[in-house]
Amino acid sequence: MTSRPVALVTGAAKGIGLAISRRLAADGFAVALSDIDIREAEARAVELPDAVSLEHDVRNPGHARRVVEETLTRYGRIDVLVNNAGTNIHSHPTAEITDEDLDFVLDINLKGTFYSTRAVIPTMQAQKAGRIINMSSVLGLKPAPYVAPYVASKFAVTGLTQSLAAELAKDGITVNSVHPGIVATELHDRVTEGLSRLRGVSLDAATDYFEKEIPLGRYQTVDDVAALVAFLASDAAKDITGSSFKIDGGMGVA
Ligand SMILES: NC(=O)c1ccc[n+]([C@@H]2O[C@H](COP(=O)([O-])OP(=O)(O)OC[C@H]3O[C@@H](n4cnc5c(N)ncnc54)[C@H](O)[C@@H]3O)[C@@H](O)[C@H]2O)c1
Repeated sequence: MTSRPVALVTGAAKGIGLAISRRLAADGFAVALSDIDIREAEARAVELPDAVSLEHDVRNPGHARRVVEETLTRYGRIDVLVNNAGTNIHSHPTAEITDEDLDFVLDINLKGTFYSTRAVIPTMQAQKAGRIINMSSVLGLKPAPYVAPYVASKFAVTGLTQSLAAELAKDGITVNSVHPGIVATELHDRVTEGLSRLRGVSLDAATDYFEKEIPLGRYQTVDDVAALVAFLASDAAKDITGSSFKIDGGMGVA
């Protein structure tokens, strides 16, 4: 049990999820870091003042239920769920995308978000309060070629967010989505490799291509995204629900 507010963050061992976990911890939250990579999650959780690591493959609905139960056993409540875990495949023409690739992306990005959310709803309903923050992408609002499963999954997360906001407002639960542009993480490294292969250009040329796509001319950082999530988890955002927040250097309007 804890007197701190409690956040459960999925995909928390690395990248954006780790930055979110660190920022929420700095803001006074007890944080449950859930990740498929439990070793990395454990190593990062011990660095925070009040945190626990939980093994969680978001594709598994049983894991989602167990992670919620373990967080409640440890902390007694869950104030914030951040559905951050996500993946992408290398860029491909759609005719070449395999069944396995399609399932992989939809299972993690869409079904994973659904399973974790479904598992936490009864707790937040009983509390009559809760914040659900879903990590979509600028590609959850604007299309792009050669990454159709990712775009479809992130548009679906945007729709899921709005549907749940309408359903859960009566229970005092807000649901919002965050839409990063390009953030230097392992996920983005894979996207850059994919573009470099697809176009037959160097990794540097692929990086230049992405930078030129951003009106403000720079990638966003993991800390930029974490700050937006921290705002949505704060009291200042208590009346915001069903909203989509781009943090993309202007990509969404380019
Ligand atoms: N990096 C970007 O440019 C960018 C842009 C827009 C949106 N996003 C979104 O931000 C989120 C985080 O992305 P990132 O760039 O930090 O990715 P990342 O690959 O750097 O980190 C992802 C984390 O999720 C974990 N993970 C992977 N599969 C999982 C599973 N099945 N179950 C539980 N955990 C799993 C990984 O172990 C890792 O810790 C994703 O939803 C991604 O789509 C990223």
